Amino acid sequence: MNETPIDWAQLKKDARAVMKRAYAPYSQFPVGVAALCDDGRTIVGCNVENASYGVGLCAECGLVSELHASGGGRLTAVSCVDKHGNALMPCGRCRQLLYEHGGRDMLIDTPEGIKKLHEILPQAFGPDDLVERG
Ligand code: THU
Repeated sequence: MNETPIDWAQLKKDARAVMKRAYAPYSQFPVGVAALCDDGRTIVGCNVENASYGVGLCAECGLVSELHASGGGRLTAVSCVDKHGNALMPCGRCRQLLYEHGGRDMLIDTPEGIKKLHEILPQAFGPDDLVERG
């Protein structure tokens, strides 16, 4: 486990940088996300849209793909930003994605300050439910 204090300013800077690489020609709503992993590395993602609108990928989709493509592990802290560089709340689907790979105590920067994932996705369905209720 990485015990270094979280540099939220740097994480937001990384999210802003990758937001500039988003492919969002249809919505004009670029999103960038950066995360610290439990081994200390930083990963990023941006949204990638499609002419078939419904198959567009949220920034968090790219992030979790990068998590595993770059070695796996768990997400510990996440910063997601809009085109102004301001904190953006992940959509519902993406909160679920983050829950799978970060769990209830994953930290996230929100317009209301740093929160734990369970605060923005209460009573989440997750891997434990498959075991306990399967
Ligand atoms: N978007 C994300 O990338 N992440 C979110 O959590 C919210 C929405 C993207 C999807 C779409 O490309 C654009 O923002 C407008 O909805």
